[in-house]
Amino acid sequence: MQRPLIIAPSILSADFAKLGQEVSAVDQAGADWIHVDVMDGHFVPNISIGPDVVKAIRQYTKKPLDVHLMIAPCDPYLEAFAKAGADHITVHVEAGPHIHRSLQHIRALGKKAGVTMNPGTPEITVENVIDLVDLILVMSVNPGFGGQKFITGALDKVRNLRAMAGGRPIDIEIDGGITSDIAPAVARAGANAFVAGSAVFKDRSPSSYGANIAAIRNAAALARGEAA
Ligand code: DX5
Ligand code: ZN
Repeated sequence: MQRPLIIAPSILSADFAKLGQEVSAVDQAGADWIHVDVMDGHFVPNISIGPDVVKAIRQYTKKPLDVHLMIAPCDPYLEAFAKAGADHITVHVEAGPHIHRSLQHIRALGKKAGVTMNPGTPEITVENVIDLVDLILVMSVNPGFGGQKFITGALDKVRNLRAMAGGRPIDIEIDGGITSDIAPAVARAGANAFVAGSAVFKDRSPSSYGANIAAIRNAAALARGEAA
């Protein structure tokens, strides 16, 4: 059984001056999850948002907040993001020596636990924690910035991780450089959740968000053998 098709706009590409309206605009435009990129200027060379911002946007949507932590260490902040209203908390295998502990902690907080790895890190690093995760995020760009080009090596990684997940109810999510052109190949490789920042928010015009989301959804649905 295929996992459901999910489109998760990344608010990293939204207008931060009106983040609440941007979140509700993509919610109404058909987003399944809202992807929230948290960066610390240390693990990645950019700084974005923290738990207070997650808390502030929480009231603008009832859809799952899919929080991607690009911070090291991550453990001291898991509880703050959980309390702020994150539904999924995804941590990098490279962010510290205790990925197993971090994932246990996220589940103990009652949240869905996600694991991710940078493009230069092999997928085998998640094998020993596969029973502790609800989602695996495959980075298809080097984390830190929106608007980068998709790294095609991510396709093999998705394929291998889908096989590794076997019959477990694990979402495989792809993040970075996703467009309606690349989505079919990613869907065929076995990913079911698609993060898209610049492809959704490209002209910052809320009236086009629905069409931008639908373009990715329809392209992926066709590749999955589903009616678009
Ligand atoms: C990159 C972030 C991504 C990013 C995706 O560090 O994790 O979520 O916002 O943006 P696009 O879709 O523009 O590559
Ligand atoms: Zn992300």
